[in-house]
Amino acid sequence: MPVKVDDTIVTVTSPESPNTSIEILKFGATVLSWKVNGEEKLWLSEHSKLDGSKAVRGGIPLVFPRFGPSKGNHPATDKLPQHGFARNNEWEFLGQVDESTVQFGLSPEEISKEAQEQWGYDFKLIATFKLVSVDKLQLSIEVENLDTKPFDFNFLFHTYFRIPDIKHVQVTNLDNIKYKNQVTNMIETKVSGPILFNGEYDSIFENVPKRIVIDYKSSPYFTIETNQELHDAVVWNPWIEKANSLGDFYPKTGYQHMVCVENGSVTKFNNLNPGAKWEGVTTFTAN
Ligand code: BG6
Repeated sequence: MPVKVDDTIVTVTSPESPNTSIEILKFGATVLSWKVNGEEKLWLSEHSKLDGSKAVRGGIPLVFPRFGPSKGNHPATDKLPQHGFARNNEWEFLGQVDESTVQFGLSPEEISKEAQEQWGYDFKLIATFKLVSVDKLQLSIEVENLDTKPFDFNFLFHTYFRIPDIKHVQVTNLDNIKYKNQVTNMIETKVSGPILFNGEYDSIFENVPKRIVIDYKSSPYFTIETNQELHDAVVWNPWIEKANSLGDFYPKTGYQHMVCVENGSVTKFNNLNPGAKWEGVTTFTAN
Protein backbone atom coordinates (compact mmCIF):
# COMPACT_ATOMS: atom_id res chain seq x y z
CA MET A 1 0.00 0.00 0.00
CA PRO A 2 1.77 3.20 -1.10
CA VAL A 3 0.21 5.53 1.55
CA LYS A 4 -0.15 4.64 5.24
CA VAL A 5 -1.79 7.07 7.65
CA ASP A 6 -1.56 6.75 11.42
CA ASP A 7 -2.34 9.19 14.23
CA THR A 8 0.84 11.19 13.87
CA ILE A 9 2.70 10.10 10.72
CA VAL A 10 1.86 9.64 7.03
CA THR A 11 4.14 7.31 5.08
CA VAL A 12 4.34 7.27 1.30
CA THR A 13 6.14 4.34 -0.31
CA SER A 14 7.30 4.53 -3.90
CA PRO A 15 5.23 2.37 -6.24
CA GLU A 16 8.55 1.63 -7.98
CA SER A 17 10.54 0.44 -4.95
CA PRO A 18 9.37 -0.80 -1.50
CA ASN A 19 12.56 0.62 0.08
CA THR A 20 11.98 4.17 -1.14
CA SER A 21 9.67 6.22 1.05
CA ILE A 22 8.96 9.46 2.87
CA GLU A 23 7.54 9.89 6.35
CA ILE A 24 5.72 13.09 7.21
CA LEU A 25 4.82 14.10 10.75
CA LYS A 26 1.43 15.82 10.90
CA PHE A 27 2.94 18.25 13.41
CA GLY A 28 4.50 20.92 11.21
CA ALA A 29 3.89 18.76 8.09
CA THR A 30 7.55 17.98 8.71
CA VAL A 31 9.22 15.38 6.49
CA LEU A 32 11.12 13.21 8.99
CA SER A 33 12.61 10.70 6.61
CA TRP A 34 13.35 10.29 2.91
CA LYS A 35 14.74 6.86 2.10
CA VAL A 36 16.10 6.04 -1.34
CA ASN A 37 16.58 2.31 -1.86
CA GLY A 38 16.83 1.89 1.92
CA GLU A 39 19.34 4.70 2.45
CA GLU A 40 18.28 7.67 4.61
CA LYS A 41 18.82 11.03 2.89
CA LEU A 42 17.76 13.40 5.70
CA TRP A 43 19.41 14.11 9.03
CA LEU A 44 17.14 13.92 12.08
CA SER A 45 18.36 14.61 15.59
CA GLU A 46 17.96 11.65 17.93
CA HIS A 47 16.64 14.09 20.55
CA SER A 48 14.09 15.73 18.27
CA LYS A 49 10.76 16.19 19.95
CA LEU A 50 8.12 14.40 17.86
CA ASP A 51 5.29 14.88 20.36
CA GLY A 52 4.23 18.35 19.24
CA SER A 53 5.98 20.15 22.10
CA LYS A 54 8.67 21.74 19.89
CA ALA A 55 9.60 22.10 16.22
CA VAL A 56 11.44 19.08 14.85
CA ARG A 57 15.26 19.34 14.78
CA GLY A 58 16.03 17.80 11.44
CA GLY A 59 14.13 16.51 8.42
CA ILE A 60 12.36 19.30 6.54
CA PRO A 61 10.63 21.84 8.82
CA LEU A 62 8.50 24.45 7.03
CA VAL A 63 9.25 28.09 7.82
CA PHE A 64 6.27 30.49 7.51
CA PRO A 65 5.35 33.38 7.74
CA ARG A 66 8.66 34.79 8.95
CA PHE A 67 12.25 33.62 8.69
CA GLY A 68 14.66 34.20 11.57
CA PRO A 69 14.10 36.12 14.77
CA SER A 70 12.04 39.28 14.99
CA LYS A 71 14.10 42.42 14.49
CA GLY A 72 11.36 44.75 15.71
CA ASN A 73 11.00 46.45 12.32
CA HIS A 74 8.03 44.55 10.85
CA PRO A 75 4.95 44.93 13.09
CA ALA A 76 2.88 42.30 11.20
CA THR A 77 5.31 39.48 12.06
CA ASP A 78 7.34 40.86 14.97
CA LYS A 79 5.33 39.02 17.62
CA LEU A 80 6.02 35.64 16.00
CA PRO A 81 8.73 33.27 17.22
CA GLN A 82 11.85 32.55 15.12
CA HIS A 83 10.85 30.87 11.81
CA GLY A 84 7.11 31.46 12.41
CA PHE A 85 4.34 29.06 13.37
CA ALA A 86 3.98 26.57 10.48
CA ARG A 87 6.56 24.17 11.95
CA ASN A 88 4.93 24.36 15.42
CA ASN A 89 1.33 23.43 14.65
CA GLU A 90 -0.43 20.26 13.59
CA TRP A 91 -1.49 20.32 9.94
CA GLU A 92 -4.59 18.68 8.55
CA PHE A 93 -3.91 15.64 6.37
CA LEU A 94 -5.85 16.46 3.20
CA GLY A 95 -5.30 13.07 1.61
CA GLN A 96 -3.70 11.29 -1.26
CA VAL A 97 -3.54 12.99 -4.66
CA ASP A 98 -2.17 9.95 -6.48
CA GLU A 99 -0.23 6.84 -5.47
CA SER A 100 2.96 8.79 -4.69
CA THR A 101 1.62 12.22 -3.64
CA VAL A 102 0.02 13.50 -0.43
CA GLN A 103 -1.17 16.89 0.76
CA PHE A 104 -1.45 18.70 4.08
CA GLY A 105 -3.22 21.95 4.86
CA LEU A 106 -2.90 24.68 7.46
CA SER A 107 -5.46 27.41 8.16
CA PRO A 108 -6.15 29.67 11.15
CA GLU A 109 -8.40 26.90 12.64
CA GLU A 110 -5.37 24.58 12.97
CA ILE A 111 -2.99 27.02 14.62
CA SER A 112 -2.82 27.83 18.33
CA LYS A 113 -4.73 30.78 19.83
CA GLU A 114 -1.35 32.34 20.55
CA ALA A 115 -0.26 32.11 16.89
CA GLN A 116 -3.63 33.48 15.75
CA GLU A 117 -3.10 36.48 18.00
CA GLN A 118 0.48 36.95 16.79
CA TRP A 119 -0.48 36.89 13.09
CA GLY A 120 -4.12 37.75 12.64
CA TYR A 121 -4.70 37.02 8.94
CA ASP A 122 -6.94 34.50 7.24
CA PHE A 123 -4.88 32.20 5.02
CA LYS A 124 -4.56 28.70 3.62
CA LEU A 125 -1.32 26.77 3.14
CA ILE A 126 -1.24 23.56 1.10
CA ALA A 127 1.93 21.48 1.24
CA THR A 128 2.33 18.74 -1.38
CA PHE A 129 4.89 15.94 -1.07
CA LYS A 130 5.54 13.77 -4.10
CA LEU A 131 7.92 10.90 -4.72
CA VAL A 132 8.49 11.73 -8.38
CA SER A 133 10.72 8.69 -8.92
CA VAL A 134 12.99 6.49 -6.85
CA ASP A 135 15.67 9.19 -6.50
CA LYS A 136 13.52 12.35 -6.68
CA LEU A 137 11.39 14.11 -4.07
CA GLN A 138 9.29 17.15 -4.93
CA LEU A 139 7.92 19.55 -2.34
CA SER A 140 5.52 22.36 -3.08
CA ILE A 141 3.80 24.94 -0.99
CA GLU A 142 0.85 27.05 -1.96
CA VAL A 143 0.06 30.15 0.09
CA GLU A 144 -3.37 31.70 -0.37
CA ASN A 145 -4.57 34.96 1.11
CA LEU A 146 -8.17 34.50 2.30
CA ASP A 147 -8.17 37.79 4.19
CA THR A 148 -9.64 41.13 3.17
CA LYS A 149 -6.21 42.78 3.63
CA PRO A 150 -2.87 42.03 1.90
CA PHE A 151 -0.29 40.22 4.05
CA ASP A 152 3.50 39.83 4.05
CA PHE A 153 5.23 36.48 4.43
CA ASN A 154 8.48 34.57 4.09
CA PHE A 155 8.60 30.89 3.25
CA LEU A 156 11.46 28.38 3.47
CA PHE A 157 12.00 24.61 3.20
CA HIS A 158 14.52 24.16 6.06
CA THR A 159 16.04 20.91 4.76
CA TYR A 160 18.63 19.00 6.79
CA PHE A 161 20.44 16.88 4.16
CA ARG A 162 22.28 13.84 5.53
CA ILE A 163 25.84 13.59 4.28
CA PRO A 164 28.57 11.05 5.09
CA ASP A 165 31.19 13.60 6.25
CA ILE A 166 31.03 17.41 6.19
CA LYS A 167 34.81 17.55 5.54
CA HIS A 168 34.22 16.34 1.97
CA VAL A 169 31.12 18.41 1.22
CA GLN A 170 30.96 21.40 -1.10
CA VAL A 171 27.94 23.47 -2.08
CA THR A 172 28.23 24.72 -5.64
CA ASN A 173 26.51 27.29 -7.86
CA LEU A 174 26.43 30.08 -5.29
CA ASP A 175 29.53 31.91 -6.58
CA ASN A 176 29.41 35.68 -6.99
CA ILE A 177 26.09 36.00 -5.20
CA LYS A 178 25.32 38.58 -2.57
CA TYR A 179 24.82 37.03 0.84
CA LYS A 180 24.42 37.94 4.45
CA ASN A 181 26.88 36.16 6.67
CA GLN A 182 24.90 35.62 9.88
CA VAL A 183 28.01 34.59 11.81
CA THR A 184 29.86 37.89 11.17
CA ASN A 185 26.69 39.90 10.45
CA MET A 186 28.24 41.26 7.25
CA ILE A 187 26.87 41.52 3.72
CA GLU A 188 29.41 39.88 1.44
CA THR A 189 29.77 38.62 -2.14
CA LYS A 190 31.59 35.41 -2.73
CA VAL A 191 34.27 35.79 -5.33
CA SER A 192 34.43 32.29 -6.76
CA GLY A 193 34.47 28.63 -5.94
CA PRO A 194 32.26 26.30 -3.94
CA ILE A 195 31.36 26.62 -0.27
CA LEU A 196 33.50 24.46 2.01
CA PHE A 197 32.88 23.82 5.70
CA ASN A 198 35.47 24.18 8.43
CA GLY A 199 33.54 26.07 11.11
CA GLU A 200 30.09 27.45 11.85
CA TYR A 201 28.43 28.48 8.59
CA ASP A 202 25.20 30.47 8.40
CA SER A 203 24.58 32.59 5.30
CA ILE A 204 21.55 33.83 3.42
CA PHE A 205 22.06 34.04 -0.35
CA GLU A 206 19.87 36.34 -2.41
CA ASN A 207 18.60 35.56 -5.93
CA VAL A 208 20.26 32.20 -6.38
CA PRO A 209 20.32 30.04 -9.54
CA LYS A 210 17.47 27.58 -9.97
CA ARG A 211 19.89 24.68 -9.48
CA ILE A 212 22.24 24.19 -6.51
CA VAL A 213 24.38 21.08 -6.08
CA ILE A 214 25.73 19.53 -2.90
CA ASP A 215 28.90 17.66 -3.85
CA TYR A 216 30.49 14.86 -1.84
CA LYS A 217 34.13 14.10 -2.65
CA SER A 218 33.76 16.34 -5.72
CA SER A 219 30.81 14.43 -7.22
CA PRO A 220 27.17 15.52 -7.12
CA TYR A 221 25.42 14.03 -4.08
CA PHE A 222 22.18 16.06 -4.06
CA THR A 223 20.84 18.29 -6.81
CA ILE A 224 18.33 20.90 -5.69
CA GLU A 225 16.08 22.57 -8.26
CA THR A 226 13.55 25.30 -7.53
CA ASN A 227 11.05 27.50 -9.27
CA GLN A 228 11.66 31.24 -9.41
CA GLU A 229 9.54 32.00 -6.33
CA LEU A 230 12.13 30.23 -4.15
CA HIS A 231 14.86 32.67 -5.13
CA ASP A 232 16.87 32.67 -1.89
CA ALA A 233 18.91 29.97 -0.16
CA VAL A 234 20.19 29.64 3.38
CA VAL A 235 23.24 27.45 3.98
CA TRP A 236 23.74 26.37 7.58
CA ASN A 237 25.98 24.11 9.59
CA PRO A 238 26.13 24.79 13.34
CA TRP A 239 29.54 23.16 13.86
CA ILE A 240 30.73 22.28 17.38
CA GLU A 241 29.80 25.16 19.70
CA LYS A 242 26.41 25.94 18.23
CA ALA A 243 25.48 22.23 18.10
CA ASN A 244 26.42 22.04 21.79
CA SER A 245 24.19 25.01 22.56
CA LEU A 246 21.12 23.48 20.87
CA GLY A 247 19.47 21.26 23.51
CA ASP A 248 17.68 19.06 20.97
CA PHE A 249 20.69 18.55 18.66
CA TYR A 250 21.94 15.00 19.21
CA PRO A 251 24.40 13.40 18.86
CA LYS A 252 26.53 16.51 19.25
CA THR A 253 28.83 15.16 16.54
CA GLY A 254 25.81 15.18 14.20
CA TYR A 255 27.05 18.42 12.59
CA GLN A 256 29.54 16.22 10.71
CA HIS A 257 26.67 14.38 9.03
CA MET A 258 24.30 17.20 8.06
CA VAL A 259 24.17 20.32 5.99
CA CYS A 260 21.15 22.56 5.68
CA VAL A 261 20.58 24.01 2.23
CA GLU A 262 17.26 25.78 2.60
CA ASN A 263 15.30 27.06 -0.39
CA GLY A 264 12.89 29.88 0.12
CA SER A 265 11.90 33.47 -0.20
CA VAL A 266 13.33 35.19 2.85
CA THR A 267 15.48 38.21 1.99
CA LYS A 268 12.35 40.34 1.54
CA PHE A 269 8.76 39.79 2.53
CA ASN A 270 6.37 38.71 -0.23
CA ASN A 271 3.23 40.78 -0.27
CA LEU A 272 0.12 38.80 -1.18
CA ASN A 273 -3.17 40.49 -2.07
CA PRO A 274 -6.57 39.24 -0.90
CA GLY A 275 -7.59 36.25 -3.02
CA ALA A 276 -4.09 35.83 -4.49
CA LYS A 277 -1.98 32.64 -4.40
CA TRP A 278 1.76 32.07 -4.39
CA GLU A 279 3.50 28.75 -5.03
CA GLY A 280 7.03 27.59 -4.25
CA VAL A 281 8.29 24.30 -5.70
CA THR A 282 11.55 22.44 -5.12
CA THR A 283 12.83 19.06 -6.28
CA PHE A 284 15.66 17.11 -4.67
CA THR A 285 17.52 14.44 -6.56
CA ALA A 286 19.73 12.00 -4.67
CA ASN A 287 22.60 11.48 -7.12
C1 BG6 B 1 18.84 28.58 9.98
C2 BG6 B 1 19.31 29.96 10.40
O1 BG6 B 1 17.94 28.71 8.92
O2 BG6 B 1 18.17 27.95 11.07
C3 BG6 B 1 20.19 29.84 11.63
O3 BG6 B 1 20.00 30.57 9.34
C4 BG6 B 1 19.45 29.08 12.74
O4 BG6 B 1 20.56 31.14 12.06
C5 BG6 B 1 18.99 27.74 12.20
O5 BG6 B 1 20.35 28.90 13.83
C6 BG6 B 1 18.24 26.88 13.19
O6 BG6 B 1 17.14 27.58 13.71
P1 BG6 B 1 16.23 26.95 14.83
O7 BG6 B 1 15.19 28.00 15.17
O8 BG6 B 1 15.61 25.72 14.23
O9 BG6 B 1 17.13 26.62 15.99
